[in-house]
Amino acid sequence: TWTPAAFVETTVEILKEQIGDGKVVLGLSGGVDSTVAAVLLNKAIGKNLYCIFVNNGLLRKNEFESVLHQYKDMGLNVKGVDASERFLEALRNEIDPERKRKAIGNAFIEVFDDEAHQLTGVDWLAQGTIYPDVIESVSVNGPSVTIKSHHNVGGLPDFMKLKIVEPLRMLFKDEVRRVGKEMGIDPELLGRHPFPGPGLAIRILGDITSEKVRILQEVDAIFINGLKKWDLYDKVWQAGAILLPVNSVGVMGDERTYEKVVALRAVESTDGMTADWVNLPYEFLQEVSNHIINRVKGVNRVVYDISSKPPATIEWE
Ligand code: XMP
Repeated sequence: TWTPAAFVETTVEILKEQIGDGKVVLGLSGGVDSTVAAVLLNKAIGKNLYCIFVNNGLLRKNEFESVLHQYKDMGLNVKGVDASERFLEALRNEIDPERKRKAIGNAFIEVFDDEAHQLTGVDWLAQGTIYPDVIESVSVNGPSVTIKSHHNVGGLPDFMKLKIVEPLRMLFKDEVRRVGKEMGIDPELLGRHPFPGPGLAIRILGDITSEKVRILQEVDAIFINGLKKWDLYDKVWQAGAILLPVNSVGVMGDERTYEKVVALRAVESTDGMTADWVNLPYEFLQEVSNHIINRVKGVNRVVYDISSKPPATIEWE
């Protein structure tokens, strides 16, 4: 029978054998898969694993700093690269969802390639690919770091000429979590909701500015922290906030306001292929809505998305 302990032991042996004294580069995303892959490789080859964690400026509030810190505490050899400006620039005036994804994917490849270039003697590229990524070409859980189908003119980036190592490619998500737990990874990290690779870019409908990112980060943090405080976070499969490209009229004191509308989304699901909106308590929604409107400048209305997938999708873009 399959056990996480046996998997860790065997995989570490295989990785040692396979990689020997070779050097490996790996992109961390802050998600479960890339983290578990990194910790496994770290066990096998230690400092010969070079992790790169890119801030695309579209992560949750304070996420880059806190996750980077966590990675260092785990003993990973990790370099944090803040490329927020570069991504924002690549997204300028982009309103089409698929073009946003492409712009982010390309910017990521450029940044990663620049970084990988600075490392000498690297032979391997490690990825946190899991079994569902192998069988579907599109992943549900958003390994922003998985590189696919970028065979553009001008040849491949250097890091794509590396040999590939994917220690989790036979595992399902729940097995990855169990392996992570076995290796002592923080349960809070392992229990994180899925988060899309393009991040907040596909939750800001329309064009993206740093001000909109800031507003959405604040709103999202209030919502997610609220879920945790009310002990609802683990009962929800995925949650987040969406910044709508709509202004609505409100009143504040004697003043008429004309400010942004945000939508909150929380779904139940097993694999993201189908999903149902979660029946969150009215008292919770009331508290969160009040906090958002009182604390986040520029937002005067909050709505809750009660659409199922299908025919809606989880994300709005
Ligand atoms: P949808 O919106 O298609 O989302 O119902 C299903 C799941 O996939 C995630 N998602 C993405 N993950 N890159 C990713 O890495 C993407 O472009 C992307 N689009 C959606 C979404 O967050 C949900 O978990």
